[in-house]
Amino acid sequence: MNMEWCASLPKLELHAHLNGSIRDSTLLELTKAFIGKGVINFSEMEHIIRKYNRSLEEVFKLFDLIRILTTDHSTVTRITKEVIEDFASENVVYLELRTTPKRNDSVEMSKRSYVEAVLKGLRSVTSVDVAFIPHCEDSDRIFTPLPAINGHVRKRIFVRLLLSIDRRETTEAAMETVRLALEMRQFGVVGIDLSGNPSIGDWTTYLPALKFAREQGLCVTLHCGEVPNSKEIKNMLDFRPQRIGHACYLGDEHWRQLKSSKIPVEICLTSNVRTMTVQSIDVHHFVDLYKAKHPLVLCTDDSGVFSTCLSKEYKIAADSFGLGRREMFELSRNAVEYIFADSRVKEDLRKVFNSVAKSMEV
Ligand code: IMP
Ligand code: ZN
Repeated sequence: MNMEWCASLPKLELHAHLNGSIRDSTLLELTKAFIGKGVINFSEMEHIIRKYNRSLEEVFKLFDLIRILTTDHSTVTRITKEVIEDFASENVVYLELRTTPKRNDSVEMSKRSYVEAVLKGLRSVTSVDVAFIPHCEDSDRIFTPLPAINGHVRKRIFVRLLLSIDRRETTEAAMETVRLALEMRQFGVVGIDLSGNPSIGDWTTYLPALKFAREQGLCVTLHCGEVPNSKEIKNMLDFRPQRIGHACYLGDEHWRQLKSSKIPVEICLTSNVRTMTVQSIDVHHFVDLYKAKHPLVLCTDDSGVFSTCLSKEYKIAADSFGLGRREMFELSRNAVEYIFADSRVKEDLRKVFNSVAKSMEV
């Protein structure tokens, strides 16, 4: 499959972690600023950054290092702005960006001020038009072409936020995140994600917060089956989240349950292969789910950490599983039905796909 075609295809990104999607150049710049401060071990950092196949444990070590680099408000704002620009530049028309609100007393950061810094990043994007406030008048004219400047029509992207609960947190901290998400709905927060190192913690710690989120009308997505844990996978599927991410270690009974539930799966091909949660791309469960017409969506997970982008994920899927343009177009278009934003956004996105179908030769 032609990479340019994959890049020009309108795409929806539903599983992207903010701090995992930082540009390499920014990560290196931030790392260098810490040299000599005795906070990070530069050679260890460099070794992990340069390593190709990191285990899941090493990935979380890298996240711990990234956490040190992105502690202050201005850096959070900067990386948010850059991540949105990067997704928009490859024709992502709808981005559900997820991030874990963090408290850091040393820089007077609360979970709330962390999310405010993210929102500042959303507002500071100037190279593309960002629509992130639900029901704003802007969404009515969002896909009315703006006047071309020097022949260029400005790109536009819908952005919604998911607040993540980290599996290291307490029940109370998770509750705080859900309360924050509820307060921030007016600024485009649409749901809650459960993520973090899947080998630690017990997901039932977060069940009260997840149930509360759902009762209050927030959508929930869970990282599910990243490690073999049959009981947890079953309980997560029983919870019936609106979507799940990964689904790598599901047994036969889980597959039956998943398929009958029709819960959409966020598929992260490169992430799964690089962290070795799937042996190789040719045995990836994408094939089984795709053949069964199960709802699924291709995502990057951590485009920075795994050196990928959404266009690349589409190309990998097309090349590895023998899908043509028509199938890839439909795969991308179907994702509209699994977003957490409201029906008006869905309607606008359907229009986007209809308007480009002919020129995309599908
Ligand atoms: P943040 O939430 O913006 O800080 O994004 C990075 C965080 O996302 C990491 O520290 C993890 O908690 C979470 N994360 C990123 N990738 C994965 C994954 O593959 N599995 C589980 N959690 C992940
Ligand atoms: Zn993830």
